[in-house]
Amino acid sequence: MNVQGGRGGASMVEAGANADTEDRGPGRNVITLDGPAASGKSSAARLVAGRLGIPFVSSGLLYRVAAYLVEEMHGDPNDEGVVVRILTERRVRLVPSVAGDRILVDGRDVTAALHTDAVDAVVSAVARHRRVREWVRNRLREIPGSFVIDGRDMGTAVFPDARHKFYLTASAEVRARRRVGERSADLASVADAIRRRDRLDAAQSVPAEDAVHVETGELTLEQVVDRVMEALSEVGAV
Ligand code: DC
Repeated sequence: MNVQGGRGGASMVEAGANADTEDRGPGRNVITLDGPAASGKSSAARLVAGRLGIPFVSSGLLYRVAAYLVEEMHGDPNDEGVVVRILTERRVRLVPSVAGDRILVDGRDVTAALHTDAVDAVVSAVARHRRVREWVRNRLREIPGSFVIDGRDMGTAVFPDARHKFYLTASAEVRARRRVGERSADLASVADAIRRRDRLDAAQSVPAEDAVHVETGELTLEQVVDRVMEALSEVGAV
């Protein structure tokens, strides 16, 4: 079993493209890395994808762009109808590539604006809505070829037949310490915000039964990536 199908260039996915829900067809390999907020899954997924030479997709970006647009339109994130209407009115594109995925809205690249405290504050409310989750799931299932994807429910709801699933864990304190390095805030308030998001995201954050668990608390990012690569190598995937 080989991880193949990487593409050097970027491919465009947007609403209405042909859906391909086959997670493990010939030449296709979807590797899922799920885990709670700030568990390091995006960084690990990006590096694993880089080592395999296939695109990395962050599913959280689609929830983040939904939250970003709701904020921009001064909409109510708790109103499912409002969120869904905004998503259908705007042209949202996910562009997976080996260099990392990008989000375009009506042709404008908004990726850099999606990791802010303002987006963090409302993204869980937006992600709770069933129709928003369906919208995200459909966008993700349209992505062709092989890729590494991170999220909460990639190995369960979105790609249940993926061949290789991982679930990254770490305590809220460890995750807060990592995040404080990324944004200017004090440790206690970051840990509180992470625990709050854990509670709000709990329903969609149940690990897949067949996921390999990696406790990352004592590990560096490189060591997490090595663990994932070792597990892939043990089953002959690389
Ligand atoms: O992984 P992230 O921090 O970028 O995710 C942002 C939010 O999106 C997170 O609070 C929960 C939600 N999310 C989700 O519900 N399901 C996913 N597969 C990915 C993210």
